[in-house]
Amino acid sequence: MFMKSGKMLVFALLMTVFPTLARENGERWNDTDGNLINAHGGGVMYHDGRYWWYGEHRPDKGGTTQVGVTCYSSDNLQDWKYEGVALPVVEGDPMGVEPGCIVERPKVIYNASTGKYVMWFHHELKGQGYAAARAAVAVADSPAGPFRMISSSRVNPGKSPRNLAITSSTPEYDKDREWWTPEWREDVEAGMFVRRDLEGGQMSRDMTLFVDDDGKAYHIYSSEENLTLHIAELNDDYTDHSGKYIRIFPGGHNEAPAVFKKGGKYWMIASGCTGWEPNEARLMTSDSIMGEWTRLQNPCKGEMAEKTFMGQSTYVLPVEGKDGSFIAIFDRWNPKSLSDSRYLWLPVSFDDDGTPEIHWADSF
Ligand code: DGJ
Repeated sequence: MFMKSGKMLVFALLMTVFPTLARENGERWNDTDGNLINAHGGGVMYHDGRYWWYGEHRPDKGGTTQVGVTCYSSDNLQDWKYEGVALPVVEGDPMGVEPGCIVERPKVIYNASTGKYVMWFHHELKGQGYAAARAAVAVADSPAGPFRMISSSRVNPGKSPRNLAITSSTPEYDKDREWWTPEWREDVEAGMFVRRDLEGGQMSRDMTLFVDDDGKAYHIYSSEENLTLHIAELNDDYTDHSGKYIRIFPGGHNEAPAVFKKGGKYWMIASGCTGWEPNEARLMTSDSIMGEWTRLQNPCKGEMAEKTFMGQSTYVLPVEGKDGSFIAIFDRWNPKSLSDSRYLWLPVSFDDDGTPEIHWADSF
């Protein structure tokens, strides 16, 4: 009896000191107040000894945004304290960040020269489905916000990419686009949609941000009707584009990009375009962020790897203080109730050639 109650006492004490011992991938994750973490399609920023997780607040029913971008913070990546709504949608917002619009895949980076936290996200206007295809920017003086909207627009109006006419560097993946005629594919590769959108700016849907070692930041987004990814350099304060951008994998149909760097190599994990349904993840690499990218095989290994463990990439987080250590973050969407979509946080390992691999793990 004593043993039993003694053990229970130790357990109770441990739970007080370490409220969460591990996170079960794909289960419900609660914050330190015991409420469901509602931060989907998110990104995590490390700043001054704390991790800050930003994500889409999703309603129980429906696919539009009713609340905004939520924020949670942690010093151990396990216990997440709810920090509130960092960017609320507001009725009558002049830029259209209002209830009923769509806010997706928010990412926040810190700009050391201005001392501001800069949020970028995919923004769709109320009642227009996914037609607006905008990138929106908001800034704050502290990580939890409140973030103030700066802009919501298409990308780089009037500017041509550095590499307008490129051919796919991965013809072996033509199986993904069997239904195209060769002429259609040639037109896409030759930049038909870039030309169409030149004046008003390029489409921007699924997106991420990446800050390089030299402090330059990049916006990576699905453009050209989700057919082609773009990588656009940001200006020095990270609040706008510099005008320099490239196209990669024209006609490759990539969504959900997540970029990281190890040993001088750039890596990208992305998904195909199948709405909320999972598909096979893709891995891409380059020696230079604005250089030539090559597509490799699926980085996920093992059972359900061909469906990305029923998830979709959103971010790859470098672990602070553990050089070369990364966590790949995925959403397991539940389109019937998006608020109940789950999180998969999986360690990134590297094979003998240094190529990233992702294996399933029950807990994080
Ligand atoms: C897939 C995207 O990756 C998500 O962010 C979201 O836009 C859904 N499509 C909507 O169907």
